[in-house]
Parts: sequence; structure tokens; C-alpha cells
Amino acid sequence: MELITAIKTRRSIRNYKPDPMPEDVVKELLGMAIWAPSGMNSQPWSFVVIENQEYLKSLSDRCKDFLLSSLDRMPILERYRSYFSDPETSIFYHAPVLVLIYGDKNLFTSTTDCSMAALNLMLSAWDRGIGSCWIGFSYGICNSPEFKEEFHLPENHQLVAPIILGYPQEPIPQGDRKEVPLLYWMK
Ligand SMILES: Cc1cc2nc3c(=O)[nH]c(=O)nc-3n(C[C@H](O)[C@H](O)[C@H](O)COP(=O)(O)O)c2cc1C
Repeated sequence: MELITAIKTRRSIRNYKPDPMPEDVVKELLGMAIWAPSGMNSQPWSFVVIENQEYLKSLSDRCKDFLLSSLDRMPILERYRSYFSDPETSIFYHAPVLVLIYGDKNLFTSTTDCSMAALNLMLSAWDRGIGSCWIGFSYGICNSPEFKEEFHLPENHQLVAPIILGYPQEPIPQGDRKEVPLLYWMK
């Protein structure tokens, strides 16, 4: 696939086939993620990969409980109340793989670097017919001290990009974008 085609046709996929992803494909995608640029070439990223569907269901339930208990503090999420309350909701959309990209928070460009690694991952996935979606709803739990302890993650690791991966169910959603918000062009 042409890079430009991948950029324009990649969409956040929220409907997946149950087919598992071969381990070598996931490893190849992580290998593409790390070719992102990074401040001072610090390469501050580390990855956690979770495929266990039972675990992902319980993780989704923990995230929903956390989000429901946070609605007072985050009124912008109020419109998702019924979505979070529905026992059928999986915030990971039953995708076969969740990749969590953590950055070393002691490096000041870490969030930017890891976000670029995430986009590399998503575009490389799309190039291979694999869908992805960034799952911001998982931040609260996957960045918590308890979760980090569970996976033996060092304390300085901060979650930047939680990305699900899997083979998309058709149809692929249409994208939309506003006009380019050009503020100024000095000649
Ligand atoms: C930081 C971030 C957090 C996001 N969190 C979620 C999420 O929790 N759940 C979800 O379904 N989509 C999530 N998305 C996907 C966006 O909704 C999506 O990128 C946007 O609507 C544009 O659609 P497109 O990716 O198909 O072009 C997130 C995207 C970003 C960049």
C-alpha cells in the first residue's frame, strides 16, 4: 500500500474478526513502531502485549468501573455513562491484541516519541490489512500503580498509547476531517 493511501484510509476499527494475530506479525509491527523518531534518539518506549481474552474482559470491566466512578471529576465523559454501564461493552471491542506503549517519564520528549511510535504501529498495521484503535478509556487503570505492579513495570514508565489490533470486520468506517486550519502562512 502507498504510504499516502495508508494515511488517508486508516480508520479506528471497532469491529474485529475473532481471528488471532500471529505472534511474528505482532513482533513485526512492534519492530516498525520503534523506527519512529525520538528526542535525542532516546527511544523511551517499552511495550506490553496482552492477548488473553478473559484478562482483557476483566480489564475492560475495571476500566469501566473506574470511568463510572470518575464521571463527577470528568463531566465531559457523562455522555458515555450508559456505554460504561452496559455489561456487554468491551472498551477493547473484543480485539485479539492490546499493545500498551509506555514511555520513560524522566525523558521530557517521551510522550511525543511514544505517540509517534504508536502512529508507526497503526499505519504499518493498516498496510498489512490489520485494524487498530487507540483506547484512551484504558488510561486510568493501565497507568495505575496496581496495574504496573501486576506487570512488573518500573515506576518511571507512563502509559502513552494503548492500541488494540486485529483483523477488521467489513465495512471499514468512513473518515471525516475539517478543513486544514491554517492560521498563518508568511511569505
Ligand atoms: C488519544 C486518543 C484516545 C482515543 N480513545 C479512544 C477510545 O477510548 N475509544 C475509542 O473507540 N476510540 C478512541 N480514539 C479514536 C478516535 O475516536 C478516532 O481516532 C477519531 O474519532 C478519528 O477517527 P479515525 O481514527 O477513524 O480517523 C482515541 C484516539 C486518540 C488519538
